[in-house]
Amino acid sequence: MSETSHAAGSSAGAAAEAPAVPRHVALVMDGNGRWARKRFMPRFFGHKQGVDALVRAVNVFADRGVEYLTVFAFSSENWKRPTEEVSGLMSLVLVAVSKYLTKMAGDGVRIRIVGDRSAVSDKLRQAWEHAEKLTQDNRRITLAVAFNYGGRWDVVQACRRAIEQGVPAEQIDEQWLSRNMALSFAPDPDLFIRTGGEMRISNFVLWQAAYSELFFTECLWPDFGEAEIDAALAAFAARDRRFGGIAPNTVVAG
Ligand code: FPP
Repeated sequence: MSETSHAAGSSAGAAAEAPAVPRHVALVMDGNGRWARKRFMPRFFGHKQGVDALVRAVNVFADRGVEYLTVFAFSSENWKRPTEEVSGLMSLVLVAVSKYLTKMAGDGVRIRIVGDRSAVSDKLRQAWEHAEKLTQDNRRITLAVAFNYGGRWDVVQACRRAIEQGVPAEQIDEQWLSRNMALSFAPDPDLFIRTGGEMRISNFVLWQAAYSELFFTECLWPDFGEAEIDAALAAFAARDRRFGGIAPNTVVAG
């Protein structure tokens, strides 16, 4: 399943040479509804602006040297939203694919969809497959769109796969699980960003975020532009990543 080997703990022990620019950013695009409400507009308007903000953000992250951007577009829990909003989000994605796919493909963006595709419509599934196929050779940045995705779902589907394949218990370790999870093609996220003021992970990249640096901002997603991206990247560059170890020059007493 994985095309490159970025097994679990890919970041462990790398403290000394941790790069200043994150290779992989995980992003929760929160605040579309509030952004729209502040303008006396329906929530859907906020989601539409959210798509435009995402298209802009992908290019900025790519320009800064980020190799993978994983965004939470629709969570396993978002089905609890009013039917109208759920179907609005589904059709918005279809519209977004037809509006932006050619541009993104031309911009060198490789698109991957992660999540449970079994519950989405045939039309949406086909659109995803088309987007993935068209962009599969692009390498400027990989945009992983988490759709009908949940971190717990991901752990469960990997465990089920192990049982279905009759993998012996002693072969199941962190590397095996990572290779069989939805983001197996990417290194673990170095930076986890959430806009919209909430400070929680909300079942996103639970396994992979073990050593991610967390960045929370009040900025609502549609307003998250170049300056805000640079602020998040600057905060990341100032972090001291130790991956459970100690700082290189620490004097160890005794
Ligand atoms: C959270 O804001 C946002 C979402 C649940 C959806 C995010 C989806 C997009 C931006 C569209 C992505 C589309 C593609 C093609 C990838 P919220 O509704 O929870 O806002 P609120 O907290 O202000 O209510």
